[in-house]
Amino acid sequence: MTVLSASTAPPPQAPPAATGPRTLVVGASGFIGRFVAEASLSSGHPTYVLVRSSATTSPSKANTIKSLEDQGAILVTGSIGDKEVMIEAMRKYEIEVVISAVGGATILDQLTLAEAIKAVGSIKRFLPSEFGHDIDRAEPVEPGLTMYMEKRKVRRFIEEAAIPYTYICCNSIAAWPYHDNTHPADVLPPLDRFHIYGDGSVKAYFVAGTDIGKFTIKTINDDRTVNKSVHFRPPNNRVSINELASLWEKKIGRTLPRVTVEEDDLLAAAAEMCIPESVVASFTHDIFIKGCQVNFSLDKPTDLEATSLYPEMQFRTIDECFDEFVEKIMGGQAAAEKAAGKEGIGVPTSAPDALVITATCA
Ligand SMILES: NC(=O)c1ccc[n+]([C@@H]2O[C@H](COP(=O)([O-])OP(=O)(O)OC[C@H]3O[C@@H](n4cnc5c(N)ncnc54)[C@H](OP(=O)(O)O)[C@@H]3O)[C@@H](O)[C@H]2O)c1
Repeated sequence: MTVLSASTAPPPQAPPAATGPRTLVVGASGFIGRFVAEASLSSGHPTYVLVRSSATTSPSKANTIKSLEDQGAILVTGSIGDKEVMIEAMRKYEIEVVISAVGGATILDQLTLAEAIKAVGSIKRFLPSEFGHDIDRAEPVEPGLTMYMEKRKVRRFIEEAAIPYTYICCNSIAAWPYHDNTHPADVLPPLDRFHIYGDGSVKAYFVAGTDIGKFTIKTINDDRTVNKSVHFRPPNNRVSINELASLWEKKIGRTLPRVTVEEDDLLAAAAEMCIPESVVASFTHDIFIKGCQVNFSLDKPTDLEATSLYPEMQFRTIDECFDEFVEKIMGGQAAAEKAAGKEGIGVPTSAPDALVITATCA
């Protein structure tokens, strides 16, 4: 691990036009963290991204980090598991807000990060890695429950340490909700058949990745959200998987067969304990069978809702997000046909290879 050293590291330097809190994003090379870091940069905040030295070994992560740097991000090398490095970095760069988007495998490493934040004492807000359901309310089957218990442990530590926090409960990312893929927005909706969970009627909220970033950043400039959970419930994006399937059929101009995935099938996939696919299966069960996103009212004093907090801001609709998937298919199709010397003739019946990420069980 590369240790940040006050004597060898370049002097702190914010992009010239930056305003707003000095924000450290942890996990910016990841799926959700990139949306958050990009939103922080486009809102003009001085944005620092914590990068583990191992991150640059992956070409796609190196590209993400380079792109963030090009947009004005300042790189800080280190790991949240190294308390002294984190204390030194937060002091050196006079960080005011810390947003963590570490993945499921390293949730508990945030306890060390929270200890560092407590030791620094001047952090005005900490957003731990949540970005899903209200983990104090939802009770998925294992192995999802273990992840929630870890996230709960982080919450309790933050609250006991009196660190000012905001919990982001953004619900599902806008995409086809594959029950075996942790990053569904990276995969096109199906072109061969739909898997429908249960009777397909249970509603859920789907939020564009860019909006997860945008509204997350909005909360850190808002005193109303201190020590609150902010739930993302855009009414237009509250849809069932049956409705999602019909919308996609409208977009691609044809109907697809529907295969029912029963509750027991999801429970069996969860029970396989194949990580991370079984974690996703347990969440899929919680969302589309038990209705964990819609089966409670926001009635705690700590609950806030994003569309009520920010009525002047629009969430992208699921309709717009699906248009983007069609554009990706057509772009991929056109490129494939150009390479083969043919012309495009409409939405293909299977996705171009480059746009499909196949989940594998480690
Ligand atoms: N609502 C949704 O639909 C949805 C979907 C997916 C995830 N989520 C949630 O979003 C959060 C982030 O998940 P994700 O899938 O985006 O994660 P991810 O893609 O696995 O990315 C994790 C990031 O954290 C960094 N990281 C991990 N351990 C670290 C450490 N010790 N020090 C510094 N950086 C570290 C990784 O850095 P390296 O590059 O060095 O590995 C990577 O940048 C999780 O809480 C997850 O439950 C929500």
